[in-house]
Amino acid sequence: MTSLFSDSLSEIQQAATIIKHGGVVAFGTETVYGLGADATNTKAVEKIYRAKGRPSFNPLIIHFAELDHLFQFVQKTELAYELALKFWPGALTLVLNQRTDNPIKISPIATAYLPTMAVRIPNTKVARQLIQFSKKPIAAPSANNSGKISPSTAQHVFQELNHKIDAIIDSGPCQVGVESTILDLSRDTPTLLRPGGISLEALTSICGTIEISHPIETKIISPGQLSSHYAPSLPVRLNCTHVAPDEALLAFGHPIEHTGLSKNLSINANLEEAAQNLFAYLRDLDAQGQALGLKGIAVMSIPQVGLGLAICDRLTRAAAPRTT
Ligand code: TXA
Ligand code: MG
Repeated sequence: MTSLFSDSLSEIQQAATIIKHGGVVAFGTETVYGLGADATNTKAVEKIYRAKGRPSFNPLIIHFAELDHLFQFVQKTELAYELALKFWPGALTLVLNQRTDNPIKISPIATAYLPTMAVRIPNTKVARQLIQFSKKPIAAPSANNSGKISPSTAQHVFQELNHKIDAIIDSGPCQVGVESTILDLSRDTPTLLRPGGISLEALTSICGTIEISHPIETKIISPGQLSSHYAPSLPVRLNCTHVAPDEALLAFGHPIEHTGLSKNLSINANLEEAAQNLFAYLRDLDAQGQALGLKGIAVMSIPQVGLGLAICDRLTRAAAPRTT
């Protein structure tokens, strides 16, 4: 049975005790809900992979509450430090080379035996208190079944992972709504592995040139780049300019005509609002559309600037040919 906790101090303390004892707890971050476990405990980390049905070659992001703690585990470069000061706590994940001189070891299962590690300091009180109270670095992927839509509320997590995890801390809906931006600093040129909550434009202003990693060209560097991902059950059709009678509409801005099931990511074409609504609306349209016997979800086009890049990335993967 999965315990449901509020974000009161005493319940976060109970959740931290579960983490200390090797359990798995879902918690809200500003991006999406994460499924956390003690990153130094291999048995605990294995529970994350098992609960999500996640392939073991796909490494996890390790979450910290403080910079000093984080840089005990990864090498501190000048650029990493500058980005850390500017964007943490926040929706940025940095891939850095691991340090080998720390007696406390992150489980190699959490990093899929890579010499690098993805690290982030999340920007919710609940996430940082959970890390502080447990006194552990916390490995946490998004708290959904592998390959499915990420959760932006505690209810989404409960629907998918009830009975499979020890607890869920409900801290309300996530403010950003899409996952963190992943920037790889372990190579010669900073490389964007996944667009996310911090815009490419904001990062470029500090890093200068950023390479964009194309999954098809590079094979898989970040397995979140696997093409079919964030997949609802109904097929997704992108950049639509009309909607068939047996489709649901996911609109953006002034909606195209449709009398059936529809949701608007942001009637004012605001990309922050659209990102916040994205995963919840995809889930709603999928569930209601299936109940109504619809055959697909048609999505209007969204500009690929700012948070639009992350939104388009998730929608493209949701629309990708299904591998399973
Ligand atoms: O916003 C987020 O990043 C959320 C919250 C919970 O922090 N987490 C999240 O985790 O989205 P997940 O596991 O769903 O996605 C993490 C991505 C995966 O695509 C994984 O392949 C990549 O990070 N990753 C992890 N370690 C890596 C590494 N050392 N090198 C390259 N990619 C890595
Ligand atoms: Mg994920």
